[in-house]
Amino acid sequence: MNIVLMGLPGAGKGTQAEKIVEKYAIPHISTGDMFRAAIKEGTELGLKAKAFMDEGKLVPDEVTIGIVRERLSQPDCEKGFLLDGFPRTVPQAEALDSILEELDRPVEHTINIEVEKEELIARLSGRRICKTCGASYHLIFNPPAVEGKCDKDGGELYTRADDNPETVTNRLEVNMNQAQPLLDFYQAKGVLTNIDGQQDIDKVFADLDALLQGIRS
Ligand code: AP5
Repeated sequence: MNIVLMGLPGAGKGTQAEKIVEKYAIPHISTGDMFRAAIKEGTELGLKAKAFMDEGKLVPDEVTIGIVRERLSQPDCEKGFLLDGFPRTVPQAEALDSILEELDRPVEHTINIEVEKEELIARLSGRRICKTCGASYHLIFNPPAVEGKCDKDGGELYTRADDNPETVTNRLEVNMNQAQPLLDFYQAKGVLTNIDGQQDIDKVFADLDALLQGIRS
């Protein structure tokens, strides 16, 4: 099961990815999470990525493609994977094709979660993340049981550095510019499905689950 999950910032990729990997037992590969982990560890990759992320810009393709190539070559990806937030540009999509061709594991399906811009802004401005496990919450749409604490492990919830209003505006603009050519790329290959992301979280998951079950069978 080789799946690519796409959607603009705040569309719910991370929220749905968590549910998908739990049910389908495939690795969750989020380039955003990989960059944030590198920043936390203070690695060279983290230093490179931080400057771009802080401004809401995309990390350069050659850096991003390199970390995905390395991750997809790991043995746990042989049974399938869920890519979240990669590819985000046509050159990244072309590179992914080459990587998977080398590994003899084609992309089986790309899923695009569709949400309107106003809703994305509301979601990003109220998002809170667990410091320990990275689980995503929303102050109004998906609040934790205890304010400021993760339901899963009691970890402290924080606001992501790039969820401030100025960076959110930039991120949306940058990603919107890249989105349509990428969707066209996968549409032309006949492997794209759009999912209505503007429903409640469980309904979005029910739609994704039905689609994934169809792909698996
Ligand atoms: P990344 O971490 O991938 O961020 P993003 O794409 O901006 O997406 P988000 O994580 O913000 O949103 P999401 O879709 O996961 O939404 P979530 O589920 O959290 O990338 C960060 C940065 O890294 C980029 O800006 C870039 O600099 C760099 N980067 C990463 N990949 C790259 C690449 N391939 N190339 C170059 N650079 C790259 O949900 C959001 C909120 O909404 C949450 O609060 C959630 O609880 C709530 N919510 C979710 N679903 C619903 C729903 N159905 N109804 C109501 N609320 C909902």
